[in-house]
Amino acid sequence: MESKQNSTALEGKIALVTGGTKGIGKAIADRLAQAGATVMVTARNQPEETDLKHHFIAADFAEPGSTDKIVNEISEKFGRLDILINNAGGLSSPGGGFSVLTDEHWNNELQLNLMAAVRLDRALLPKMIEQKSGVIIHISSTSGLVPLWEANMPYGVAKAALNAYSKTLSNEVASKGVRVLTVSPGGVRTGGMESFLQGLAEGLGITVADLTQKMMDRIGGIPMGRMAEPEEVADLVYFLVSPAAAYLTGANYIIDGGNLPVVK
Ligand SMILES: NC(=O)c1ccc[n+]([C@@H]2O[C@H](COP(=O)([O-])OP(=O)(O)OC[C@H]3O[C@@H](n4cnc5c(N)ncnc54)[C@H](OP(=O)(O)O)[C@@H]3O)[C@@H](O)[C@H]2O)c1
Repeated sequence: MESKQNSTALEGKIALVTGGTKGIGKAIADRLAQAGATVMVTARNQPEETDLKHHFIAADFAEPGSTDKIVNEISEKFGRLDILINNAGGLSSPGGGFSVLTDEHWNNELQLNLMAAVRLDRALLPKMIEQKSGVIIHISSTSGLVPLWEANMPYGVAKAALNAYSKTLSNEVASKGVRVLTVSPGGVRTGGMESFLQGLAEGLGITVADLTQKMMDRIGGIPMGRMAEPEEVADLVYFLVSPAAAYLTGANYIIDGGNLPVVK
């Protein structure tokens, strides 16, 4: 098997990872750089200088001008993009089902988990099509495949829409040299996951450990008995953007330790 340290599969490639400063996005950014890519990351907050390993672009997807800012910086610094990882996402709406969810909650989840990717793809795809090459990955979630109304209805619905959008877009651009794929992680041990569990546990008046157990039971258990590490998701993403995956497009890759109780 190819050694991670010696890999040069992505040498010369320019990659952008949204939300690339923490959790899954950070692991992906590091993994792509390890394989030789030049990596840009976006987030709202600039990391400490010592943690800043990649070109940083400050952008908040809640602000309408964020896409233009990112696209302008890419075009000024590199003039091209080969790999786009739409990773920024997460959930901020409360659990508890339909009656506690306002238009604002729905809108926030849809903006961050669907529209941020739609806008960025729309702005960056024309250049990829002109180059006749490029790979776009949408980081979704198994929540887009499982109706977990108690915990995260608008988030799951936004990710389900992202899955449908990603598949549809892949059909449109496959013949133009651009591959579009979806990656759906189950639980991954990140800061985002920690704060989600903490917020929900407080709301329910139970401990994070009890809530975690309840959630594992509710989703039918994880056969591997643990959540994923961000680096495990990053390894899958690395493979999907690498030349070894040249015939893969339009598919949704589930990485969940065997959790989803379906035969697909
Ligand atoms: N962790 C899981 O269990 C899990 C499971 C399935 C799917 N996912 C998906 O995986 C992706 C990453 O999740 P994660 O757990 O790694 O998240 P995380 O640890 O919370 O990191 C999120 C990243 O996105 C940035 N970000 C957040 N909100 C943003 C905004 N409004 N505008 C711009 N950047 C923003 C954050 O930086 P700033 O805060 O500085 O902006 C950070 O770099 C998300 O799409 C999530 O839905 C996660």
